[in-house]
Amino acid sequence: NKGKHRHFMEKEIYEQPEAIGHVLAHYVNLIENCADPVPSFDFASIPSLAISACGTAYLAGLIGKYWFERYARLPVEIDVASEFRYREIPLSPQSAALFISQSGETADTLASLRYCKKLGLKIGAVVNSAESSIAREADAVFPILAGPEIGVASTKAFTCQLAVLAALAISAARTRGTVTENEVQALVRNLAGMPRIMGEVLNSIQPKIELLARELSRYRDVLYLGRGTSFPLAMEGALKLKEISYIHAEGYAAGELKHGPIALIDKDMPVIVIAPFDRFFNKTVSNMEEVAARGGRVILVTDEKGATASKLDTMNTIVLPAVDEIIAPMIFSLPIQLLAYHTAVFMGTDVDQPRNLAKSVTVE
Ligand code: F6R
Repeated sequence: NKGKHRHFMEKEIYEQPEAIGHVLAHYVNLIENCADPVPSFDFASIPSLAISACGTAYLAGLIGKYWFERYARLPVEIDVASEFRYREIPLSPQSAALFISQSGETADTLASLRYCKKLGLKIGAVVNSAESSIAREADAVFPILAGPEIGVASTKAFTCQLAVLAALAISAARTRGTVTENEVQALVRNLAGMPRIMGEVLNSIQPKIELLARELSRYRDVLYLGRGTSFPLAMEGALKLKEISYIHAEGYAAGELKHGPIALIDKDMPVIVIAPFDRFFNKTVSNMEEVAARGGRVILVTDEKGATASKLDTMNTIVLPAVDEIIAPMIFSLPIQLLAYHTAVFMGTDVDQPRNLAKSVTVE
């Protein structure tokens, strides 16, 4: 039942404040009570963490890597499951591995899980479906509690995966003693404030995104740029746009611009720059200036502080509330998802069932 929405994808985008509230209630309570989310998963003693997944779930894992490394000082090895399982990575049996999957049935992710299990690693599953193969074969299950996701393009599962990974990273940081108790409390407070901010953003940005989407639907190629956790988000934005609107899109680390993609810059390829006002902002702005100097059109997705700080004349600027770094990836997911959605609606594609794609990929 789509309710008042035209597509399941739209409904699922708007369900995010509630879904995130739900998943946080589960995990944040555990952190606040000083309990490990799952006692059998001992973050304190592992030398490193391996993460593997496919598509959007992989991009969530990539953002998780930044968090585990930054907050918990835990080295993370991550790859797409179809490479991970064949790379013959030298993994220590003392390590743990996380597999992220909405469906819990993705063939390559399941094969990567079995590979790590055979090596003796402790296995954690970040899944939406607790009845799935990936959940069944794991030692510890971290449910994302997103509820059914019908749209083929993943939206609420992505942000709920991020919420779980953030909670796990904070909990790992606490057990490893790499953050102070005050820092833990601040991180938890920021996470807890997320549903309200998401609701405000969803209530306010749609008209602007629709106008922008109408414009975007006229282009054949789009480049997304970001730094830090905004880099995986740039790749997620590009993935979302290509899979439902069929517009060719690429996501790049902003710093890689001059190592190749800058050759493509012209007025016919809009560049969507994801740049919250964080410690990378000035660097990303200088990449934006390089784009503008070559006649490229910039769509800046930033926050109130970033909008004030940037002097650049953009094709369009989407302004979000300024939020703490730990929740920025979830908040910035919203305009990224809505932009892909409305662009696809303008293109007249089958948004919930894009061509050639399946919700669950059980073949390799
Ligand atoms: C993109 C998308 C896919 C899935 C990927 C993994 O919007 O939905 O990239 O993320 O096929 O699927 P799961 O999470 O079920 O393993």
